Amino acid sequence: MRGPTGEETTAVLRGAIGAALWAPSVHNTQPWSFGLSGGELSLRADVDRLLRAGDVSGREMLVSCGAALCNVQMALLAGGHTPEVRVLPDPDRPNLLATVRLGEDVEADEHSRMLFGEVERRRTHRGGFTDVPVPDGLIDALVREAAAVGVRLTPVLAPSGVRVIAALTAAAEEIQEHDLDFSLELLRWARPPGDERGEGVPAGGYPAEPETAFAQRDYAHGKGWGYEAEPGATAGTVAVLTTVEDRRKDWLAAGQALQRVLLRASASGVSAAFHTQALEMHHLREFLREELLSNEHPQMIMRLGVAKEGPVPPRRALDDVLDTDR
Ligand SMILES: Cc1cc2nc3c(=O)[nH]c(=O)nc-3n(C[C@H](O)[C@H](O)[C@H](O)COP(=O)(O)O)c2cc1C
Repeated sequence: MRGPTGEETTAVLRGAIGAALWAPSVHNTQPWSFGLSGGELSLRADVDRLLRAGDVSGREMLVSCGAALCNVQMALLAGGHTPEVRVLPDPDRPNLLATVRLGEDVEADEHSRMLFGEVERRRTHRGGFTDVPVPDGLIDALVREAAAVGVRLTPVLAPSGVRVIAALTAAAEEIQEHDLDFSLELLRWARPPGDERGEGVPAGGYPAEPETAFAQRDYAHGKGWGYEAEPGATAGTVAVLTTVEDRRKDWLAAGQALQRVLLRASASGVSAAFHTQALEMHHLREFLREELLSNEHPQMIMRLGVAKEGPVPPRRALDDVLDTDR
């Protein structure tokens, strides 16, 4: 059997970049850019989009890029191509996060096709959830998705654990709302109603008032943006993604795990809300690690549940993130 021509390879990799654009990213910053040259896709961190107040180390930027890399892998697997991925391939070019080439052609497996099928359907939710329960066995399936890439997903079932995480989230949110650098940064990425830029958090994407005990980011900044909150919503199942170590490659793995979890959840009609404020404050993140997470490093805090359908979040166009000469 003949292998794909150069043109076919380029078309397949370009399609995979199209899937990457749908990944979640902190404040919808989409902190990535892609290169396509010589049959190789490269994924770079776009450091102009780094959150300099909230994400000093670049951890959330790399988690976001890891999620984008996962979408590339799922697109290729679902299309019957084995992705040959090198993560952080060049120590002298730290913003080059991964390169991907087409490996052997394979029969696309059902599981990859299922995950890929959710890439454009998955949405971040920000309010409370309906009282429809998370399907039996789904949380175990999500734990397996994260474990497949060496990351742990821990459901927090004890009410006391949930209260501690909600309290830390509230504390971090309170501090950030009164910090000028954090506030200006959030303002930069929060979008007013009717704004049509392909990035940032749209005004229709969150309730005007928090619907659960978990503090919500102050995207509206007192301007009354957001949809009308509904009474009776539930917080859902709280879960934390953790890694044993806390290096840049662990952050990328956490992003890949996050996206696998979200796609698998979406396939069962379940969505996630995120509350990462406490992870942006060093001492609160350390407190969580030591007191609640057996010394593993928290990478993502989420609530999982069944939500009503939300608006399609904005994205930049493929040509805005793709450089074909690199
Ligand atoms: C690392 C990371 C941190 C995030 N933190 C929060 C958060 O604290 N609060 C929130 O509402 N959404 C959070 N999000 C979700 C993003 O706002 C969301 O992915 C983005 O707006 C794009 O929307 P979408 O996920 O519906 O495509 C986070 C996403 C990532 C990847």
